[in-house]
Parts: sequence; structure tokens; C-alpha cells
Amino acid sequence: MNKRDQYRETAKEIAAVLDGETNLTTRMATVSNILHHAFEHYFWTGFYVVDPEKPGELVVGPYQGTLGCLRIPFGKGVCGTAAATGETQIVEDVHAFPGHIACDARSASEIVLPVVDASGTLIAVFDVDSDRKAMFDETDREGLEAILRASFAS
Ligand code: SME
Repeated sequence: MNKRDQYRETAKEIAAVLDGETNLTTRMATVSNILHHAFEHYFWTGFYVVDPEKPGELVVGPYQGTLGCLRIPFGKGVCGTAAATGETQIVEDVHAFPGHIACDARSASEIVLPVVDASGTLIAVFDVDSDRKAMFDETDREGLEAILRASFAS
């Protein structure tokens, strides 16, 4: 199966499992679990949520993979850049990204997408790292944007 079809199938599986579930932590845990196990190029998969007690700071949420950093200020690293700009970041070589935060030195490339709720408010970013360079492209962006929209903004 090509990657686009794999994202479509995974989106259906996520929608079926989440049907009727309203708890946000449960939804984030399920999205990170299913995606992490669906794609062979995923090394670290999860959410950094906007901390309600410290606006302007992300705190790690549900994830799969090796130990993640606990907190990332808006504007710092790839996750903080996605949060500050509201734009998806695709980084082919994280070691060449200014201010990249290395939680695990094996991370080599990544994609980070803003996650908004139904009102359009930023609630988190979704971060996927690979241990190989240049593993994320427009197909990952489209597939993940559709899954995050369906899971958190509708
Ligand atoms: N690479 C991220 C930090 C988070 S971890 O990789 C789990 C960044 O620079 O935002």
C-alpha cells in the first residue's frame, strides 16, 4: 500500500476507535498509539499540549517512543516554532535546524503540526520524529492534517 492510502486507512481506524469518546487525553493517547504502530518510519510520536497554567509553554502529553523533554517554550525548537507560527514544520535534518531541542540524539528528521479545537484555538502540537533523515513530505502533512482535523476540530 502506498503512503497516501496507508494514511486513509489509518484515519478510518482512528475515527472508528474514537467514535463517541470525548475525553481529550484519551483521544490524544489513541491517535499517537495508532499512528506510531501504523508507520515504520515513526520513531517518536506524540503531543505537546499548551499548558493552561503557563500560556506560552508546551508540556509533553500522550506519546509513544523514548523519553521526551517535558517542557518546550513557544518559539523554541521545531515544536515551539509550530506553536508560535501556527504552521506545520517539516525538517529534513533536525541537527541543522537552529534551536532544535534534542530530546533523543537519534532523532534525525521530523514533522510538527499545530492542533486546533473546533473554535480554532491552538490546544497542542503533534510531533513525529524519525531516526532517519528526510522521512516526512507533503503526503505525511496531508495525511496528518486530515487526522488531526477529524480528531480534534470537529
Ligand atoms: N524535536 C523537538 C523536541 C521534541 S522531541 O523530539 C520529542 C523540537 O525541536 O521541537
